[in-house]
Amino acid sequence: MSRDSWSFFSAGQIVFGSGTVKKLGQLIKPWKSTRALIIADAALVKAGIVARVEAPLRSAGLTVEVFDGGEPEPSFVIAEQAIAMAKNARPDVLVGVGGGSNMDLAKVVATVLTHGGNCRDFTGFGNVPGPIMPLVCLPTTAGTGSEVSHAAVLTDTENQMKLSILSHYLRPALAVVDPELTLTCPPRATADSGIDALTHAIEGMTATRYNELNVPADEPFPYDGKQPIADCMAEKAIKLVGQHLVTAVREPNNLAAREGMALAGTLAGLAFSNSAVAAVHALEYPLGGALHCSHGAGNGLLLPYVMRYNLSLRIPEFAKIARLLGEDTSGLSPEAAAERAITAVERLRREIGIPERIRDIGGTEDQLPGFAKKSFAIKRLMLLNARQPTEEDLLMILRAAF
Ligand SMILES: NC(=O)c1ccc[n+]([C@@H]2O[C@H](COP(=O)([O-])OP(=O)(O)OC[C@H]3O[C@@H](n4cnc5c(N)ncnc54)[C@H](O)[C@@H]3O)[C@@H](O)[C@H]2O)c1
Ligand SMILES: [Zn+2]
Repeated sequence: MSRDSWSFFSAGQIVFGSGTVKKLGQLIKPWKSTRALIIADAALVKAGIVARVEAPLRSAGLTVEVFDGGEPEPSFVIAEQAIAMAKNARPDVLVGVGGGSNMDLAKVVATVLTHGGNCRDFTGFGNVPGPIMPLVCLPTTAGTGSEVSHAAVLTDTENQMKLSILSHYLRPALAVVDPELTLTCPPRATADSGIDALTHAIEGMTATRYNELNVPADEPFPYDGKQPIADCMAEKAIKLVGQHLVTAVREPNNLAAREGMALAGTLAGLAFSNSAVAAVHALEYPLGGALHCSHGAGNGLLLPYVMRYNLSLRIPEFAKIARLLGEDTSGLSPEAAAERAITAVERLRREIGIPERIRDIGGTEDQLPGFAKKSFAIKRLMLLNARQPTEEDLLMILRAAF
């Protein structure tokens, strides 16, 4: 039975705009919550962002506790620490404040507080048995799109691998996207999370089409493949990244650039979490797990190499991506226009200082077969890639990127 339909999920409510954090208390008032736990990290406390989130909650009469032990690319160990604190605090609303790392941590804490057990019980797709407790996410990077997505990613330090919990129940009840919260985001995290958003949009837009996905229609699957609503959002996100990412990295206080990127991150999150991420993300999971580069840097490094691998099957899509990134493709053949998407991404990557080779982030050639093997095992992401890679194909991509 083929898959002949697609669907679209989102966060319960998305509130977007500079200064919207001030409305947080008012926004959650109907929930009648009394005790909030903010999941954050020391850098966000220092930047004054946690205080800006706490203030409207306190004004609305809630008691607030803060877990400030979040870390980039959080491990299961950190997740356990956050869960232990949450069990003592007994919140009735969880507030994830930060980049993807803290927002994912908040999702995991909310899942375990609601359903019991251990965070490892929920990895994979569809293993969260029902709705989770009220969860608000406020992104301070732009963006992973975690504030709207169905994913939470943790690092398994023992196996040097990223593991995802995927469930539509993980989509936050409320996403407050206030671009002002990204003004203090350091240039490195701005670049890395920005190119992650671009990767989400490009992978979603060039993925296996929903009606060509080789998964039985009645089999639960975390992504629908390329589909029209996600495409609209991915296209807009790509355009916004092309317009604003370099400025956001070079001029951190440029609010217009931050607003553009904040919207790009959320749109790309809505896109990929309904359509797909594919081979770039599959290759990044073992790469990031072993080399400890950020998720965004790993994706940005790999993106042009995977685009080249997929190019022949997605000529019109890549030509469109080139134009969305500001390339003039008039007079070019379809193939030459499509090629411009790759060179545009390579140029953007260089301009914002994303590493271009695996050796530049400390990888060695003998690690590549292991990376290929681990990536190939992520079956769902292989099925979603426009061109179905063999393990040897993945090794070839990694060798090109080495
Ligand atoms: N759930 C999803 O759908 C999804 C999607 C993509 C990536 N991810 C995950 O998200 C994580 C990466 O998230 P990220 O790229 O947003 O970075 P991050 O959350 O790891 O943050 C990077 C660093 O920047 C700091 N920082 C962030 N915002 C700041 C601000 N406004 N001011 C000062 N410092 C700030 C953080 O404290 C941290 O030290 C990875 O673990 C990745 O696997 C999740
Ligand atoms: Zn990503």
